[in-house]
Amino acid sequence: MERTAIYPGSFDPVTNGHVDIVERGLKIFDRIIVAILRNPAKKCLFTVEERKEMIETSLNRDSNVEIDVFDGLLVDYAKKRNAVAILRGMRAVSDFEYEFQLALMNRKLNREIQTVFLMTGLRWIFISSSIIKEAASFGGNINGMVPPVVSRKLKEKFGFISSADE
Ligand code: PNS
Repeated sequence: MERTAIYPGSFDPVTNGHVDIVERGLKIFDRIIVAILRNPAKKCLFTVEERKEMIETSLNRDSNVEIDVFDGLLVDYAKKRNAVAILRGMRAVSDFEYEFQLALMNRKLNREIQTVFLMTGLRWIFISSSIIKEAASFGGNINGMVPPVVSRKLKEKFGFISSADE
């Protein structure tokens, strides 16, 4: 039986830390569905379509990875996609409290789906989408922390390059 994991998140935008978790996840699972939450209540810098496109460009297309968008409850989506697990990256102690709460709530909602945490590589331990956006908004150099397409899009978004420069 093929073992599928859902890797959910906002991915606003995808970072090298996320890419690292997908690569690690593929060593455990046959298939990973990167699932972007469509949440109108959350103010995101990039549209769902832009986020999906950036992930598609950043991940190895030959691998068993699908990129999808979901709304509603994560466990319902996971069940619909026949996933056995929810995959989440864990960086530091600061992530723990929220992740613990999320995992236990998801377990309460559906006992069949397990949450699996993977540690990002040490070089990505300090990276989050929020800190990347903050640095990029002031013109900070975020090359090497995010895939090249994301770096370019952030510079465009914050007016540090125009698409005509490319
Ligand atoms: O990258 P993020 O923003 O930390 O991801 C959070 C995400 C998308 C995993 C979480 O908000 C989520 O699963 N939302 C969907 C609604 C849901 O099922 N919430 C958890 C149980 S109430």
